[in-house]
Amino acid sequence: MIRMKAIKRFLALATCAAACQAQPAADPLLARNLAATCANCHGSMGVAKGEMKSLAGRNEEELLKLLADYRSGAQPATIMHQIVKGYTEDQLKLVIKHFAALPAAKP
Ligand code: HEC
Repeated sequence: MIRMKAIKRFLALATCAAACQAQPAADPLLARNLAATCANCHGSMGVAKGEMKSLAGRNEEELLKLLADYRSGAQPATIMHQIVKGYTEDQLKLVIKHFAALPAAKP
């Protein structure tokens, strides 16, 4: 039930992903704005609750590898395989760099 709600919210935000893409790469807020499109599911500041994985403070390469595997289909997913396709490689690098630099979730 919670997941359906999150998915609906994500779809409402999908237009933001398109709008963010139109912005120049030099926009200092771009990484933060892109990260906001992940917050519905992965928590604000990349710290999630419950079963959802946190992204904050994690290894950049590991996260990018997970995203690449969702994109290629190597890693089965319920939704991330679709979500990654809504972003360019550069946007994903930016957003992951942003999350990696945030304070990690407390254990
Ligand atoms: C609609 C909810 C939703 C949104 C929005 C979302 N994710 Fe996810 N994410 C998931 C779910 C659910 C999983 C677990 C894999 C699956 O079933 O799709 C996941 C898994 C991941 C993982 C793997 C984590 C791990 O340790 O295994 C990464 C990395 C990730 N998401 C990054 C992102 C990024 C970056 C964004 C924003 C660009 C984002 N996600 C937006 C729901 C979401």
